[in-house]
Amino acid sequence: MKALVLSGGRGSRLRPLTFTLAKQLIPVANRPILGYVLDQVAEAGVKDVGVIIAPETGGYVKEYVKDGAHWGFNVTYILQEPLGLAHAVKTANEFLRKEDFVMCLGDNLQGQGIVSFVEKFEKEGLDALILLKEVDDPSKFGVAMLDEKGNIIKLVEKPKEPISNLAIVGTYLFSNKIHDAIERIKPSWRGELEITDAIQEMINLGYKVKAEILKTWWLDTGKKDDVLAANAKILDEYIKREIEGETVNSTVEGRVKIEKDAKIVNSTIRGPAVVGGSCQIENSFIGPYTSVGKNTKIKNSNIEYCVIMENAQIIDVDRIEESLIGRYAKVTKNNRKNTIRLHLGDYSEVEV
Ligand code: DAU
Repeated sequence: MKALVLSGGRGSRLRPLTFTLAKQLIPVANRPILGYVLDQVAEAGVKDVGVIIAPETGGYVKEYVKDGAHWGFNVTYILQEPLGLAHAVKTANEFLRKEDFVMCLGDNLQGQGIVSFVEKFEKEGLDALILLKEVDDPSKFGVAMLDEKGNIIKLVEKPKEPISNLAIVGTYLFSNKIHDAIERIKPSWRGELEITDAIQEMINLGYKVKAEILKTWWLDTGKKDDVLAANAKILDEYIKREIEGETVNSTVEGRVKIEKDAKIVNSTIRGPAVVGGSCQIENSFIGPYTSVGKNTKIKNSNIEYCVIMENAQIIDVDRIEESLIGRYAKVTKNNRKNTIRLHLGDYSEVEV
């Protein structure tokens, strides 16, 4: 069994962060999302991993994953123009050869690993196994309609009229028959070769395709609010109380991780939260579900349910909530009444 991890794409819904970073590298609990995906691939014992990268952001992904030694597998990078998930599989043909593989989207996080799904796929000798999860807004995803026995009747990518509330999760298992199916499909209305169409084609061809409903949580971190939700989930599941930095006249409540050389002065940190190495926090409140990247400075400010990336500065800001703040960003207060002064990158979003 090989693995194909999709870490290409355009990341247009997460601009401007994705002008200088691959979206799969946006951190939750101070670690790139892709890191959690690769943990699950490693846990399944896969030793040969193909990583799809895009021309603009591939360099950042390579810098993070390197040769895969951190996870104990070998990595082959596969450069792809973002023309769809099935196009990514097609581009990886030479790497995949005739082998079975698990395909993981590098921006999807799920509460349960992939081990049991790999086992089911192998034990039942399937050609495809997809995971499904009930969602409130199926029009954002690929969607599956099942019969009462759980067999797949139909799959549709981003349906305008929902055919069910079961979204296709970003973990797929395939035999080499997927390649025949991809050869038979055409680009969709959005100009992409859709993996959903290829799986539908496998069903049409009579191949053994099954679906399993995911019991735990799943998040596709496509937009700001999804990143914040993923951050909250990961903080909830992974963060233990661990104080390596220095605290002076401060209160640290609950499951809080304060990394090495961080200094917290006259402040309250309420977990679950993580404060990165060498941060300086002064006269501030860092509330639950917040991750602060390393080397960030926060002074006289209150922050809750945020992802603040490394080397940012937040000074004299009464309250920030539900925000995603990029590296080296500065948020400060001016003393002019009713005036906001901005210096924003392309595609930035500000709510005042
Ligand atoms: O998140 C699950 C959904 O992922 C499924 O329900 C949909 O059926 C599936 O089409 C996909 O939909 P998205 O529109 O959310 O996919 P997105 O463009 O965000 O790409 C998913 C990941 O794959 C992302 O990490 C970028 C990467 N990618 C994407 C494309 C289009 C590539 O590596 N190459 C590509 O060509």
